[in-house]
Amino acid sequence: MTSIGFFEASIAFFCFLIFYCCRNNKPFGRCPWNWPVLGMLPGVVMRLHRAYDSIVEVFENSNLTFQFKGPWFTGIDILGTVDPANINYMMSSNFSNYYKGPEFHEIFESFGDGIINTDYELWRQWRKASQSIFHQQSYQTFSTTITKKEKMVVELQDVFLRFMFDTTFMLITGSDLGSVSIELPEVEFATAFDDVGEAIFYRHITPRFLWKLQKWIGIGAEKKMMKADATLTRVCNKHISATREEVRSQRNTHNSNGEDHEVLLTSFIKLDTTKYDLLNPGDNKFLQDFTVNFMAAGRDSTAVALTWFFWNLSENPNVLTKIHQEINSTNLPRTGSDHQDTLLYLNKLVYLHAVLSESMRLYPPIPFERKSPIKPDVLPSGHKVESNINIMISIYAMGRMKAVWGEDARDFKPERWITETGGLRHEPAYKFLSFNAGPRSCIGKNLAINLMKTVIVEILQNYEIKVVNGQKIEAELGLILRMKHGLQVTINKKCSSLV
Ligand code: HEM
Repeated sequence: MTSIGFFEASIAFFCFLIFYCCRNNKPFGRCPWNWPVLGMLPGVVMRLHRAYDSIVEVFENSNLTFQFKGPWFTGIDILGTVDPANINYMMSSNFSNYYKGPEFHEIFESFGDGIINTDYELWRQWRKASQSIFHQQSYQTFSTTITKKEKMVVELQDVFLRFMFDTTFMLITGSDLGSVSIELPEVEFATAFDDVGEAIFYRHITPRFLWKLQKWIGIGAEKKMMKADATLTRVCNKHISATREEVRSQRNTHNSNGEDHEVLLTSFIKLDTTKYDLLNPGDNKFLQDFTVNFMAAGRDSTAVALTWFFWNLSENPNVLTKIHQEINSTNLPRTGSDHQDTLLYLNKLVYLHAVLSESMRLYPPIPFERKSPIKPDVLPSGHKVESNINIMISIYAMGRMKAVWGEDARDFKPERWITETGGLRHEPAYKFLSFNAGPRSCIGKNLAINLMKTVIVEILQNYEIKVVNGQKIEAELGLILRMKHGLQVTINKKCSSLV
């Protein structure tokens, strides 16, 4: 989900701020907030430099939900909410009335009819098929090899993005795209994803008739998108044909570690179509949609979560000490041990899990979620919603609400995730929304957590990581919570015999 919903999120945010201005006449009291024609937009654009902080203030001062109108004639009526009762209602108890909708599908054209970009029965079949394949235990762990020189300065976010790109592609096809190799090469498939993200962003800020015209003529971002789509199709088709050939010749398609299970693409090629009449593994476009959607879902979110995690560790050295203590006092599984042993080991790392959860509570990799009601409805907070209006949930603000998390909501406190008996505290998904809630919650959650734990243990055992002083750390406004300027770190190998 490289830049899914970026501009919707931005528009929602603009409007939230302006609405706040209108209600309270602070903190932007001197600035006119409601302009003729442009409505509230100009005032918000002027305050973009502290976007995330401002949106937290807006929700904190508005009883968790508010409604507003956007600029004239744009038809942007947005309801913002971080109220757990509303979220539980839309995501779970009245899920059938809240969908992504046709506008989302059109803008995210490159995602085709994949799981992220569909609703209703087609989504249901994707979900069922993906779950039955994905929830096999062997897909829930990864082994990683991270090799670096003795000492070097790296931009950690870029390295994690490349690492996750390769890792997700390996999980899907069994092939290594090699984007994380030491020269950090440009990989055309990764660039195509970035270009698609850019064009999707452009579609959000351009009137529909204009981007349609540009597409028809073949200019600008639309031209870039067409080229990128062609690359996605070509690269996917190459791997799909090779995997089909392997399945046909009865060779078992293993994952990159040579382990004894199929890669996801093989499982989808062999899908039992008697159970899923809308899914068509005989069609290459179906398998391309699968590949593109899963790449988009798994790549940036995990990479960004790891980046914020390491930054939080650098800010909280006592937490790092405790993680080291936990790792040192927990027996590592033997080399070559099976998935069960690895899972048991990872499950014992309770404090590490707590730190990861705390990091994702304050820095959720996907900071916004969007929903639309199919039929008019009334939310538990009492707000009336018309069909097809945009409802925005700020996952970022939600993690910082005192009404939801208590007075210390903005403090980094992994201990809040630990029970009195030392276990991991469960928080309902409609409160800790980083992996979404209800029937559309993240399919890759367990995999992502296990993968992150594995990567973190490997790094902490073998390297000392220090954040370079004097950097500006800020979140980029968008659907993915990337660090705007990346994260420069020095990496020191602890003991060369370990890698
Ligand atoms: C820290 C890492 C991750 C986070 C925070 C995360 C979070 C999320 C969120 C918030 C959604 C809902 C998005 C939406 O409504 O459009 C989602 C959906 C999804 N995620 Fe993840 N995700 C992560 C990693 C992964 C990985 C590694 C995979 C698999 C390779 C994955 C697969 C999916 C899929 C397939 C969906 C679509 C589910 C559906 O619409 O039914 N995710 N994820």
